Amino acid sequence: MPNFAFINNKYVNFKNAKIHIEDRGFQFADSVYEVIAVLNGNLIDLEFHLKRLKYSLNELDIKYKFNKKIYKKIFLNLIKKNKTLNGIIYLQITRGIQYREHKYENKLTPNIIIYTRNKKFNLPGKNFKGVNTITHEDLRWKRRDIKTVNLLPNVIAANKAKKMKAYEAILLQNGKVTEGTSSNIWIIKKNNLITHPANTDILKGVTRTSLLNIIKKTSLKLVEKSFSHQELLNADEVFLTSSGSFITPILKIDKNKINNGNIGNITLKLAELYSKSCMHG
Ligand code: PDD
Repeated sequence: MPNFAFINNKYVNFKNAKIHIEDRGFQFADSVYEVIAVLNGNLIDLEFHLKRLKYSLNELDIKYKFNKKIYKKIFLNLIKKNKTLNGIIYLQITRGIQYREHKYENKLTPNIIIYTRNKKFNLPGKNFKGVNTITHEDLRWKRRDIKTVNLLPNVIAANKAKKMKAYEAILLQNGKVTEGTSSNIWIIKKNNLITHPANTDILKGVTRTSLLNIIKKTSLKLVEKSFSHQELLNADEVFLTSSGSFITPILKIDKNKINNGNIGNITLKLAELYSKSCMHG
């Protein structure tokens, strides 16, 4: 358990960190969040996270302006206070507190919640792991581009995966892959790297954006298009990306092995390039 959380301008003891029962985040999932990786004490892809946070706040009309420099300082303070050398920062901004009513008032004061968690990452090297996955129907709403805490469909699918001893559930909508419950999905076919376009059907992952920039410097061909369940199973290699898992190879989908159950060469190369870029900022 971390020692400290940051709640509305104060560092507080984690055990005493509390939010009001009529906070709209609690009542309506009227709240946005970010999960930022910390690797060797460095904040990974911070700029992209803060840019997406601003986008989510705007899309939900949550009137809150944050100062990037101050936020960075708070993150670094928390990392230090909680000794989170490797882990994640969780940040949530709710619309604020109001008597329970669907319609919100304009002048609410958002609640800010920030804390850290230690985590061991799956990085290329001798312990680099691939994972098993399942497929599951995508039960979510139509604005998945907004990073809200409205995550119950993701929770249901993720727990189905857990029950099947799988790491992640890959979500399917009308026979097409959208993304994972908390990750973006990529397939490789004949040196083509394919991932779902960043529209309202998926969350535009920060790791995805970072990897797109890396891919531009390679000879791989990138195709942003939606792909079918069958294309997923027929792929040469499959992997997922997220701030919690970086680049993680997928070796099995339901009962189907990918690349005979081995980590593919291109996935490994991309994971190496990505982790190198994290080390060097
Ligand atoms: N999830 N798609 C969904 C639905 C996600 O929830 C996430 C991240 C991603 C990957 O985004 P990024 O690369 O910015 O982490 C894609 C975070 C890690 C979570 O909810 O814990």
